[in-house]
Amino acid sequence: MLQSGSSQNSMKNGTLTFASLFSGCGGFDLGFIQEGFRSQGAYDCDPEAVENFKANIFDDIYNVDLTGGIPNEHSLYGIDALIAGPPCQGFSTAGKRLINDKRNHLLTLTGYLARRIYPKVFVLENVAGALSGAHARYWNELDETMRMAGYRTKTVRCRAAELGMAQLRKRILFFAWRTQRDIDFGTPTLPAGDLRSVLTGLKNQKNHHPRKLCPQSREWQIAKRIKAGQKLSNVRGGKNAVATWDIPEVFGAITENERTVLELLRRLRRQKRKRDHGDADPVSLARLEAALGGRFHCLVNGLVAKGYLRRVSEEVDLVGTFNGKYRRLAWDKPSCTVDTRFGSPRYFLHPSRQRGFTVREAARIQGFDDSYVFSGSEKSQYRLIGNAVPPPLGAQAAKFAKRLLGRFS
Ligand SMILES: C[S@@+](CC[C@H](N)C(=O)[O-])C[C@H]1O[C@@H](n2cnc3c(N)ncnc32)[C@H](O)[C@@H]1O
Repeated sequence: MLQSGSSQNSMKNGTLTFASLFSGCGGFDLGFIQEGFRSQGAYDCDPEAVENFKANIFDDIYNVDLTGGIPNEHSLYGIDALIAGPPCQGFSTAGKRLINDKRNHLLTLTGYLARRIYPKVFVLENVAGALSGAHARYWNELDETMRMAGYRTKTVRCRAAELGMAQLRKRILFFAWRTQRDIDFGTPTLPAGDLRSVLTGLKNQKNHHPRKLCPQSREWQIAKRIKAGQKLSNVRGGKNAVATWDIPEVFGAITENERTVLELLRRLRRQKRKRDHGDADPVSLARLEAALGGRFHCLVNGLVAKGYLRRVSEEVDLVGTFNGKYRRLAWDKPSCTVDTRFGSPRYFLHPSRQRGFTVREAARIQGFDDSYVFSGSEKSQYRLIGNAVPPPLGAQAAKFAKRLLGRFS
């Protein structure tokens, strides 16, 4: 990765040209630059993303709201490649998946912007949730928009781990091209990296400021109970889930009978699922009574008083129905998806220390070179990293784009 001064100039000397929409801090762009593309401009509405992009990649980034169009768009007409990473929050299964989330429309808007620019190749990245259920209508409209403009299209599913990265990130790439070429979108599958391979040699690196949890604090007490590969979860059983009732020093002691009720409820609430998002459904008092007999009232009332259960009208549910807080990653495995919460120990724990991950650690797992220095509030640094296309995934997309453009280097 090239960063500043003369290296910025050499970055601009590639032969194929590209521009990026919704460029964030530039993960996608870095992949294209690494593959020899020369940037003609980048566009994003977030001032902090723009600042980071400018400081680490190049100056030609515009701080604009793309719903108003691309400023000076004529300078991009006929460019080799246009790349775009519109927001994925409305499609992500980690979120609420509201069909009318206004960010979803940015996906289709990107197609209309691409049509005006008329690049030889257009590449868009998003989450796999954009292909499922009613949400697929945005993706279909994007596909249709590009086909109507004379492009051929292809949606490719990618797994970062298969590119050799130490992360289980799954994403989709949409390609539209008008070069009349047929290419194979397959890639050789590499062995996944592991955390040990990416988290060594961090001492004195920029953006690496480990902060241990305060001993005896509530977070520290929970973290102490969670081993590598485990998470705090009341809604899944098995050896990788530690329930709140397994940590009585924090959440309060229970009797064996009460444990039976909690574990039964955990099982029952997943049996008749009605909700279309979220974890599962509360269980009716009648079902609990059928399973537990006459003593259930007393047990349920006791657990409500202890803060383990809550009543939801005529039903009962667990308190804390999250699946996977305090997820402790393992040294010998790839990381789960780096998202915007990666800096919080309440969501992700370092494999062997009582702390969360530093900005540098998150950046390394995402495939950013150490020479990329993040600035701004820590919160926004984690947000930019979590939202980024990992540069190695960007590079893979760029390789496909080169083939579509007839470059087979
Ligand atoms: C998923 S992130 C892009 C990540 C980027 N491709 C990368 O690799 O680092 C989505 C970006 O869209 C930007 N964005 C959201 N709405 C926008 C709008 N209306 N106009 C321009 N940018 C927008 C956000 O600021 C955010 O940086």
